[in-house]
Order: sequence, then structure tokens, then C-alpha cells
Amino acid sequence: MSRVALVTGGSRGIGAAISKELKAKGYTVAATYAGNEEAANAFTAETGIKTYKWNVADYDSSKAGIAQVEADLGPVEVIVANAGITRDAPFHKMTPDQWKEVIDTNLTGVFNTIHPIWPGMRERKFGRIVVISSINGQKGQFAQVNYAATKAGDLGIVKSLAHEGARANITANAICPGYIGTDMVMAVPEKVRESIIAQIPTGRLGEPEEIARAVSFLVADDAGFINGSTISANGAQFFV
Ligand SMILES: NC(=O)c1ccc[n+]([C@@H]2O[C@H](COP(=O)([O-])OP(=O)(O)OC[C@H]3O[C@@H](n4cnc5c(N)ncnc54)[C@H](OP(=O)(O)O)[C@@H]3O)[C@@H](O)[C@H]2O)c1
Repeated sequence: MSRVALVTGGSRGIGAAISKELKAKGYTVAATYAGNEEAANAFTAETGIKTYKWNVADYDSSKAGIAQVEADLGPVEVIVANAGITRDAPFHKMTPDQWKEVIDTNLTGVFNTIHPIWPGMRERKFGRIVVISSINGQKGQFAQVNYAATKAGDLGIVKSLAHEGARANITANAICPGYIGTDMVMAVPEKVRESIIAQIPTGRLGEPEEIARAVSFLVADDAGFINGSTISANGAQFFV
């Protein structure tokens, strides 16, 4: 029986590459999305991967969605908490709504995704969790007080879960991507994007597939001793 992997935000961008990589490695993948039906339908048509719609920021919706995935496919043994958003503004202009939306999605959304699945992982004595954090959670970024706070918080979640899950053969690790060529980064004005690329020693944006490869390494059955770690994948832009 192939293991079931849940990839939140798995229908577009980095998440889509992760979903495809895990399917290619033999996992049964469930990919979630927030509301972009067109992208989700196109993704399922292209890959054959089932998609599920719920808002990761809402605990009850997450719990119900996960129950549906488990009824359809079996217990979730691999979680990739990837769904995330930006609502950038310099701090003096950042609104409480911009703060809250990002906290609810990128930080509470990770809790909401893992918490309903955690008891089953503990009982079965197996689990692999990867949270997609960010270079900007490691180093901070202008106009991203909200985003950087969530991505740094995600590292705290992973390290704490690594302690709690270790005896039950559950690992929790994080990946901090640098700038990757997805819709999120392409939405940044071209001038800003060019200045970002100028700061990357590799001289280019990363590819979603480069993050997906790191995920499949971390979730492998024989990766059980890699626990609580953070992999930076940023083209040598920043070293911790
Ligand atoms: N791109 C980068 O350079 C970069 C760098 C570092 C870290 N990251 C992180 O990597 C992750 C993926 O980024 P990306 O660039 O691939 O993003 P993206 O292209 O904007 O795709 C985001 C995905 O997350 C889903 N999503 C957003 N909010 C959601 C919510 N409330 N509930 C459920 N699903 C939700 C979207 O669903 P819909 O399709 O329905 O909108 C979509 O599938 C994020 O956590 C991001 O912070 C990205």
C-alpha cells in the first residue's frame, strides 16, 4: 500500500511540484487549494491527483477536509504544510487585517493542518511532516513583518514537534526556500524582481522542482533520523 501524502496548497506553484514529485515516488497524493477552481481542475486533469478545497486558516474546515481525504484514500502519513500567502506592506502602513490574514493562513494554518492528523500518526508510530517556511523567516524582509513572523514561527512549530514525535517515529522538518519562480514571486513588480535576482549568487530564481526534491528526501521512510532540521534552498543568498 502506498503512503498517503497531503500537500496543502498543492495545486499551484511549489505545492504542485511537490504533489507531482511525491506521486512520481509512489505516494497517493491529496492536494488542497483555497478557491482557484480553474487551476485545481487543470492540475487534476494534468496529473490525475485528487484536489480538495478548504481554507487552512479555519480549524473546523481543515478537520472536515482531512476526514474526507482519509475516508477517500486512507490515513495521512505524510504532511506537507505548504499553503501560504503574502500581504506585504511597510510596517507603518500594515493594517491589522493584513497582519491577521497572514498569521491565520501561514502560522495557524500549519497548526490546523497537522493537529487533526497528529493523533493517528502517534498511534501508527509513523509520520513525516514538512513545513514550507521561507528565507524571509530566517533573515526578515522589508514590508514583511507579518510574513516573516509566520515563517519564523513555523520553524518553532517544527522543532517542537520534532521533540514530541521522535519516540513515535514521526519527523518534522522545515524547508526555507529562497525566491522561487511561482505566481507569488511573479506578482512582485518586475523592477523589484530584478533587484531580488541581483542578490542571488546563483543568478536566477529557484525552480519549484528544486524544493520538491528536498521534500521527497525528507519524507522518505529511511529519513527517520533527520528530525527538527531546516534545509535552506536559496541559491546561496543567505546562510544561517
Ligand atoms: N515562491 C517563493 O519564492 C517562496 C519562497 C519562500 C517560501 N515560499 C512559500 O512556499 C509556499 C508556496 O508558495 P508558492 O509561491 O507556491 O505560492 P502560490 O503559487 O501562490 O500557491 C499557493 C497555494 O496555496 C494555496 N492557498 C493559499 N491560501 C490558502 C488557504 N487559506 N487555504 C488553503 N490553501 C491556500 C493556493 O490555493 P489557490 O490556488 O486556491 O489560491 C495555492 O494552491 C508558501 O507557503 C510560501 O510562503 C514561497
